[in-house]
Amino acid sequence: MRQLIAGNWKMNGLGSAALAEIAVLRAAAVTRADILICPPATLIARAVWAAKGAVPIGAQDCHAQASGAFTGDISAEMLKDAGAVTVIVGHSERRQLHGESDATVADKARAAWRAGLSAIICVGETEAERIAGHALDVVTRQLEASVPPGATADNTAVAYEPVWAIGTGRTPSDAEIVEMHALVRGRLGAGFRILYGGSVKPANAAAILGLADVDGALVGGASLKASDFLAIVEAARS
Ligand code: PGA
Repeated sequence: MRQLIAGNWKMNGLGSAALAEIAVLRAAAVTRADILICPPATLIARAVWAAKGAVPIGAQDCHAQASGAFTGDISAEMLKDAGAVTVIVGHSERRQLHGESDATVADKARAAWRAGLSAIICVGETEAERIAGHALDVVTRQLEASVPPGATADNTAVAYEPVWAIGTGRTPSDAEIVEMHALVRGRLGAGFRILYGGSVKPANAAAILGLADVDGALVGGASLKASDFLAIVEAARS
């Protein structure tokens, strides 16, 4: 399977400086892997324009409803209208900082499909859960409750992102990543893309992307600079 290197800019990126990074990615004419950049919602339409079809643009979250009295929220239909092709749902920062439950995440994934977007559904255990030996159980539960029936390899990817590895510079061992990706593969089936996320950077990308059932990476901090992101892309399995 062709690997996907997806960048999650989180709440980073303003105007021309951000669009210049998109222009660098466009000019790089990447062929080694599929790529995706998820900028903040304010930049989606401009990023789509700057990418000129060479860099697919996604979003970081959506509301479950298509429209209505939800001040400050953005629907999947609006993201589609802005030019996004996919949306991340259930990122741990949404689960933890915005209290999103598995059921909410599943509703958002359905909303993405309804709007014609694919969904990247994030799962992952906290450090306490891993230390307690519950990582596999936690992710199993999250998969059961956050990935709705109807998920296909075309409309859904899953990102395994251990919460304790996000933005910390720490990553699980190779064996821990392989074990968890095998679990996700067993539940989803062949053909689904399973991304690893959490402190992926140019220095560790080749090792992580070389592991069994790792079909790509969801990259936060190291996606903000096009040069770092491209170095990760070059580390993808060919
Ligand atoms: P990080 O973030 O690469 O900065 O650790 C990953 C993510 O949250 O998707």
